[in-house]
Amino acid sequence: MVKGLDDRQKQEISIPRHIGIIMDGNGRWAKKKGLPRSAGHKVGANKFREITKHCSKIGVEYLTVYAFSTENWKRPKDEVWFIMKLFKQYMNEALSDFSYENIRVNFLGDKNGFTEDLRNLIDKVEESTKNKTGMTLNIAMNYGGRDEILKAVKEIAMEAQKGAILPNDIKISDISDRLYTKNQPDPDLIIRPSGEYRISNFLLWQSAYSEYVFMDDILWPDFNVKDLERAIEEYSNRNRRFGGV
Ligand code: IPE
Ligand code: IPE
Ligand code: MG
Repeated sequence: MVKGLDDRQKQEISIPRHIGIIMDGNGRWAKKKGLPRSAGHKVGANKFREITKHCSKIGVEYLTVYAFSTENWKRPKDEVWFIMKLFKQYMNEALSDFSYENIRVNFLGDKNGFTEDLRNLIDKVEESTKNKTGMTLNIAMNYGGRDEILKAVKEIAMEAQKGAILPNDIKISDISDRLYTKNQPDPDLIIRPSGEYRISNFLLWQSAYSEYVFMDDILWPDFNVKDLERAIEEYSNRNRRFGGV
């Protein structure tokens, strides 16, 4: 825990430039309390607001939150409907709330999966925050890492077909530059609460050298600033080598 560290130790804590969070465990949280899954999503959405503001405050440059995967559509219709309703509500609030925050909102995922009004709302939020100079908040919604890489591969294949690029000349950056995270640094730290030790299709390409912190003693709706600090402390103690020595 960061709490209880002396000043010297605190100075050794390095704040990751880019944090990814797989916001998992809403359903189990609700079940434990005898509530419908939707109640977990609602509390989870509020947690997301709180953690976003805190990350911005401590100097995180990029925060990517995984809110809905390309696979989550297979859930019961009423659950999907409720999540979309929450997302819409959040986007509407972000329009007024974020005018006071120096946060730029960027959307990761396939917008075509949404209704037209939601698509327009997303565009509006992106547009109205695009000149902010503080933290970039990436909201991954209808996002899948495989889907994202496939999209990039298709674009490159089209270019090759037109003769604009030679297959043998395709570089790693040709793929990176066609992802939703174009021009952004890769995530340094990826946090997953809820006790699941897997990636679930999150930032597959970008996480090649990310540090994972899986937390099995906390579900997302209970996650707070102290838990974020615990994860950052654990990250600070890792020795990142990127294949070197
Ligand atoms: C994460 O919580 C939110 C979404 C995937 C939309 P879950 O809904 O997956 O919660 P659990 O994993 O079932 O507890
Ligand atoms: C990953 O969680 C997606 C989000 C948190 C948005 P899931 O709950 O969908 O993942 P699995 O099914 O446990 O792998
Ligand atoms: Mg889950």
